[in-house]
Amino acid sequence: MPADALPAPIELGTWPTPVEPAPRLAVAIGLPADALWIKRDDLTGLGGGGNKLRKLRYTGAQALAAGATALITTGAPQSNHARLTAAVAARLGLGSVLVLEGERPGVLQGNLALDLVAGAELAWVADPAPDRVRREVERQAQRVRDGGGVPYVIPFGGSSSFAALGYVDCGTELLAQVPGLDHVVVAFGSGGTMAGLVACLGSERVIGIDTGAVPDPRATLDALLGGMPGGHVPRATLQIDGGQVGAGYATLAPGAAAAMRLAARTEGIFLDPTYTARALAGLAALVAGGRIKPGDRTVFLHTGGLPGLFGHPGLPHLT
Ligand SMILES: Cc1ncc(COP(=O)(O)O)c(C=O)c1O
Repeated sequence: MPADALPAPIELGTWPTPVEPAPRLAVAIGLPADALWIKRDDLTGLGGGGNKLRKLRYTGAQALAAGATALITTGAPQSNHARLTAAVAARLGLGSVLVLEGERPGVLQGNLALDLVAGAELAWVADPAPDRVRREVERQAQRVRDGGGVPYVIPFGGSSSFAALGYVDCGTELLAQVPGLDHVVVAFGSGGTMAGLVACLGSERVIGIDTGAVPDPRATLDALLGGMPGGHVPRATLQIDGGQVGAGYATLAPGAAAAMRLAARTEGIFLDPTYTARALAGLAALVAGGRIKPGDRTVFLHTGGLPGLFGHPGLPHLT
């Protein structure tokens, strides 16, 4: 589709999200009190909030332009993107089908409970090999068609080059809110959030903290950027830190629990165990290692995800 034929993003959410100074957290991790801000993309407004809403404004517009009656997407059982897809579908008067990786748990907690409250249908793929997930998505899409509907499939994590334009919008907000910012630190899952920020702010100012959601985050990011205006950035300049993956995506990484306590006890802000706690642990490690220097103006992007805490196996170990 030519760029001028792309639909405008739909009006969902509350913008711009606030930026708050975080003086006590700054001092606790070794920065001056006036050098750290938190961009509150956990407060985007619809369906419990979070970063995925910015991307769904774009994919939702594409879905409506295609005449969709149901949104279909995929993810881990505690996917925040899946929860927000269900909420956006409800807001747009569409159905939603979430194809989730793994076995259906006996008790549906956290995001899974919210998915059901929002009216989503859940389909489980016990063996989450990519081709099995693809086949189940196609089966569900056919089921929607057989019922006379029009399915619209949103990729894993909501990340496409078009959807990542939602994070170009976030970068534009940041340029006005924190003039002269040196670093934005963000969790990396399916990559669209970081891609949009890099396309807007350049690769030298954006640091992604990998969560282990995809096997090759650098290649994933490179592919997303390749389809974006402003995205032609040398791959070697992309900054993805792999130091917080721990034993894997679904586990409570060693630094994450400490980061959750620190944000809550210094600023009264709750993080999620999978994404934002890893991102803050990564930020603190970058300060400790000298990559982020005390005079640098640094933004921690809070991308939401708190419902996932209430379905996370690490929850009992936090208190
Ligand atoms: C709370 C939260 N933060 C960050 C991310 C990472 O965003 P992206 O998938 O665009 O890399 C996700 C993705 O699932 C998320 O749910």
